[in-house]
Amino acid sequence: MSAGAARRCLLGLLVAAPAAAAAGTADRYPVFTDEGLATGRAIWVENCMTCHGYGIAGAPDPNKAKAWAHRLEKPRETLYDHALNGFFGPDGTMMPARGGNAALSDAEVKRAVDYMAAVARRANDKVRAETDQPPNTNP
Ligand code: HEC
Repeated sequence: MSAGAARRCLLGLLVAAPAAAAAGTADRYPVFTDEGLATGRAIWVENCMTCHGYGIAGAPDPNKAKAWAHRLEKPRETLYDHALNGFFGPDGTMMPARGGNAALSDAEVKRAVDYMAAVARRANDKVRAETDQPPNTNP
């Protein structure tokens, strides 16, 4: 292989790798049959998983029961408000308004929140079933 071809090949790998990684990460998040949650998942994978799927900047992963137990106790309206307008948590971590995508409508952000809450509830139910007691909410 010529040096030029080797470089092109390497470039191809660099471009392809993040896309493949994102696809692999999305597989960890459940697909629900409910239409609203299916839409919410698509919005979430596109806009929110960048942080919430990797714990970037302290973003809570909805698959982690402990990270979400206390958030599920908040009224849904509060979670919507924090996702729409941004939120500083007690640990100094910050959720940016609309996940940083101002083009998302209120309805789209709310659907993504509904999806996260459904995933988190599933993770919490799993912990409860396995331990037969409420999940430990300590970090
Ligand atoms: C730049 C990274 C980043 C992106 C992108 C992001 N989030 Fe967050 N999000 C955070 C962080 C960090 C927190 C934790 C804030 C805290 O509790 O301190 C958070 C917390 C939340 C919470 C919990 C708020 C609470 O009251 O506990 C919700 C709901 C949420 N995000 C929804 C979303 C949605 C929906 C999207 C996509 C539209 C999104 N996030 C995209 C970083 C991000």
